[in-house]
Amino acid sequence: MKSVAGKTAFVTGGASGIGLGTAKVFAASGMKVVIADSRQEALDEAMAYFSKKKWPVCPIRLDVTDREAYARAADEAEAVFGKIHLLFNNAGVGVTGGDIRTNTFKDWDYGVSVNIMGVVNGILTILPRILKHGEEGHIISTSSTAGLFAVGGCAVYNTTKYAVAGLMETIATDLEGTKVGVSVLFPGGTRTNLGISTQANRPAHLRNAEEPRVPPPGGRPKLDMSLYMDPVEMGERVLRGILRNDLFINTHPEFRAGYAVRSEAILRSVPDEPPNEARTEVQRAVGTLLYNPIYEKQTTPGVLKRTVEV
Ligand code: NAI
Repeated sequence: MKSVAGKTAFVTGGASGIGLGTAKVFAASGMKVVIADSRQEALDEAMAYFSKKKWPVCPIRLDVTDREAYARAADEAEAVFGKIHLLFNNAGVGVTGGDIRTNTFKDWDYGVSVNIMGVVNGILTILPRILKHGEEGHIISTSSTAGLFAVGGCAVYNTTKYAVAGLMETIATDLEGTKVGVSVLFPGGTRTNLGISTQANRPAHLRNAEEPRVPPPGGRPKLDMSLYMDPVEMGERVLRGILRNDLFINTHPEFRAGYAVRSEAILRSVPDEPPNEARTEVQRAVGTLLYNPIYEKQTTPGVLKRTVEV
């Protein structure tokens, strides 16, 4: 999108953390914003802030895993603000399941239902509405640095966040030539309520009999959350990425070496043999199997200049 003022954003997980920080940036930039979240108390708290600002923000209680409710929420958003232009699939849960030897099917069902299917539900519900009105739009989903390289003890989380990245890279290709841009956000550590909300949102039937899980050997390192990124700064990075139509929105330079070492490992694993020319031709015939030019468009956004007062 070349500009966002006057447009409508639908932000899931919009009552807390990254979703809330971004909703503030969107509203401060002149957008109409729906904050959709499963936690009513978080919506109320966020609205206490937005009401004072007198910004056009509408709270909707929504569980993104509920497809019928999602369609009703989109109807409500359109009734309140008119056309939806921007979908931010950001609601997610930090379920890790711990070491793979302690993972349960409940951990997997919980993580997959919110982190993958919640995003799919958003896209299948709202993308047709954006395409139908024909104005500029954008779809962005929150993955994680854990969606670009794996760390141990996080099989559920890593897997779901890799899935979000793959999904967004694919639909960026599908939507080429339309007025709908596509981004995937890879936040590093951000000051949010992910631990609390992951517990609070877990449905009773997906809770493990024994909680919490055994901590890793040596215990968990104590986190100094004050060093984590401010969610409003994250929101500014999100908005900048949307306006630049960046496919990848990375936020934390600390992860560069981690990305590089994984990319290099992939390249080293390719057999050092001459390519089979005939096979290459066949694979080229099936579109982007060998090569996808969408990645060529990515450029660096440079240093963030903070502009938004909230
Ligand atoms: P948060 O807990 O502050 O915000 C997430 C919001 O999503 C909560 O208000 C929660 O109620 C809502 N939510 C969860 N499940 C939902 C559902 N089924 N339907 C509707 N709303 C639901 O946490 P945070 O960190 O802002 O999380 C946002 C996204 O950022 C998540 O996808 C998370 O995986 C991702 N992320 C967070 C990082 C961090 O360091 N905080 C780093 C990388 C990614």
